[in-house]
Amino acid sequence: YDYGEIVPYLLTWFDYNARILAWRDNPKPYYVWVSEIMLQQTRVEAVKGYFDRFIKALPNIQALAEVEEDKLLKLWEGLGYYNRARNLQKAAQIVVRDYAGELPGDYHMLLSLPGIGEYTAGAIASIAFQKPVPAIDGNVLRVMKRIAGSTDDITRLSVKKELWTDIERIIPKDRPGDFNQSLMELGAMVCVPNGKPDCEHCPVVHICKAFHEDTIALIPNKPAK
Ligand code: ADE
Repeated sequence: YDYGEIVPYLLTWFDYNARILAWRDNPKPYYVWVSEIMLQQTRVEAVKGYFDRFIKALPNIQALAEVEEDKLLKLWEGLGYYNRARNLQKAAQIVVRDYAGELPGDYHMLLSLPGIGEYTAGAIASIAFQKPVPAIDGNVLRVMKRIAGSTDDITRLSVKKELWTDIERIIPKDRPGDFNQSLMELGAMVCVPNGKPDCEHCPVVHICKAFHEDTIALIPNKPAK
C-alpha cells in the first residue's frame, strides 16, 4: 500500500493535538526509554505519576544501575509486570558497563538490550535519536490498516513486516519521532479500537479507505486462534 499522502496531515495534527507529556517535553534518551517501558502494558494517564516519581528517585542510568532491587520494585509497585523493572535495571547495568552510561542510539544495539523489542527499539531510536525507523505497536497497526482499508490478518508476521517497509518508505527524515508518535497518538485519541472511532476529528479521514468503504469495524482483523 502506498501511504504517500499521510505524512504532512499527521505531523500538523500532532503539532496541535499532542498531549503534553514529561518525556515528550524533554525527550532525553533515558526519559524516553523509561516511559516506553512503562507504556508497554500501561496507559499514558496511569504512567504519568509513576514516571515522575521514578525519575525523581532515579534521575539517570547510573542511579538505575545501582539501586537496590527492593527500592526499584517499590517504585514499580502498582504498574505490574515486574520483569519490566528487572530488565530495565539489567539493561542499565549493561549500558554503564559497555557504553559508558550513555544509551546507544542505534536500533540494533537497542534491540540487543534486555526488555527492548522491535517496537521499543524503534520508539527510542526515532523519538530520542531522530533515527528514521518505524515503531509499530497495536495502535499503529490498527491506524495504518484502516487507512489502507486492509482486512489482512494482523496476527501474521508477514503483515507487520510489510507495514514496516511501507512506513520506512514514508517516514520523514526530519521528524521521525513525531511521525511515529502521531500514529500512536491518533490510535489512542481518535482511531480507537472498539465502539466509535472519532472520524470527524481525524486528520486523514479524506484518505482513509476503511472510512469510505465503511469497514472500520472490521479492521484490524485479528482472527481468534
Ligand atoms: N504509547 C507508547 N509510547 C507512546 C508515545 N510515545 N506516545 C503516545 N502513546 C504511546
